Amino acid sequence: MNNGEMKRKDFLRVLLGAPVFGAAMGQTASTLQGAELTGIAGREMRTVDEVKTAAFAEQVTDDVGRTMLGALSYLGDRLGLFKEMADMDQFTARDLAKATGYNQRLLEEWLRGMVSLQYVLYDSIEKRFSFPPGHAAVLADEDSPFFMGGAIEYAIPAVLATQNVMEAFRTGVPITPDIFHPDMWEGIERWSAPMYRHQLVQNWLPVMPDVLKKLQEGALVADVGCGNGRAMITVAHAFQNTRTQGFDVYEPSIEKARTNAREAGVEGRAEFLVGGTGDLPRGQFDLITNFWVVHHYSHPVKEMEAIRQALAPNGSYLIMEDPLSSEPNEAINPQGRLGYGASTLACLHDSMADNGVGLGVASEQVVRRLGRQAGFGSIRRLPLDDPYIAMYQLKG
Ligand SMILES: C[S@@+](CC[C@H](N)C(=O)[O-])C[C@H]1O[C@@H](n2cnc3c(N)ncnc32)[C@H](O)[C@@H]1O
Repeated sequence: MNNGEMKRKDFLRVLLGAPVFGAAMGQTASTLQGAELTGIAGREMRTVDEVKTAAFAEQVTDDVGRTMLGALSYLGDRLGLFKEMADMDQFTARDLAKATGYNQRLLEEWLRGMVSLQYVLYDSIEKRFSFPPGHAAVLADEDSPFFMGGAIEYAIPAVLATQNVMEAFRTGVPITPDIFHPDMWEGIERWSAPMYRHQLVQNWLPVMPDVLKKLQEGALVADVGCGNGRAMITVAHAFQNTRTQGFDVYEPSIEKARTNAREAGVEGRAEFLVGGTGDLPRGQFDLITNFWVVHHYSHPVKEMEAIRQALAPNGSYLIMEDPLSSEPNEAINPQGRLGYGASTLACLHDSMADNGVGLGVASEQVVRRLGRQAGFGSIRRLPLDDPYIAMYQLKG
């Protein structure tokens, strides 16, 4: 080191030798504490604190590892490994290979990766793996209110779109939904279905007593951006006197929604149509819902105006979005990482299409502003004790 300057080679040695990496390669960060790093790759750079830098390098190592282990989780979901392990007590890779018919060597490495993430546990004395019931509730049990397999299934198709997204960065031309692997749509369905099954009727509707009463008596409901239809199937199932219609611009989702409705035995009261707010008749609906859809709208005020006009007198418009703030420093949390990741790789592109506004994450501030611009007189955030979603009731 000369006059506080450090060459790239020495800089990397500091990082690699730092205690956080465990290996004692060359000088450690602590032995160099107080030194200034003012040069990297021959370029001038601002003075950095090497201890903080080493800690940040550790964070990035962890983040890269978790990115790759996200793909390993996808294997666990798609290959049915989580479901298989949920039925096993303590087991070896051989047991899992026997139960699944998959390659033992690959399973062994996968299991070690899952242990590094602590999704799977390992008993070093017994030399056996285990999958706790609480983990199975999150990763294997589709009926559990905690099930996250859908989010895992969604994430990898989103990441696979990265090359296309790079092109969108260069050209400003957003990607289109057809480029995603079909698992993306099934992932959204499996992600949102447990919320509808466990919360829509039990928790969300009771905080809107007027809406609940109408649904019990017999109402007409529309869900715009219905995806594979799980929300309306849940409503049709719970309220025998109510009729529902789901609209979505993505045709394969409508086909899947129709199949789902048939299988659930509610096809007579859960109709699904390719379309959007432009297809809603005026003044008809007691309730119109947008579950995770407002942030997709390219012209949200126009869409929300059409929804207001389609409501029957005293009808309600229900919006569900992520509970994220527009202030970046308030999104330094798991929801922020998930929300901004999904938005950059997928959702924002819908909102940039057709010279759209490019909404991005729809925070409470944004929902309120759009609602006012679309002419809604009353906008209420529902008092729900749920860290994963924000719900709003709007009235004309
Ligand atoms: C994140 S998904 C949510 C799907 C569904 N609501 C759920 O909770 O499972 C967003 C959906 O909105 C649909 N969408 C996007 N823009 C739309 C528009 N302008 N009109 C109707 N649907 C739209 C997409 O095709 C996609 O199915």
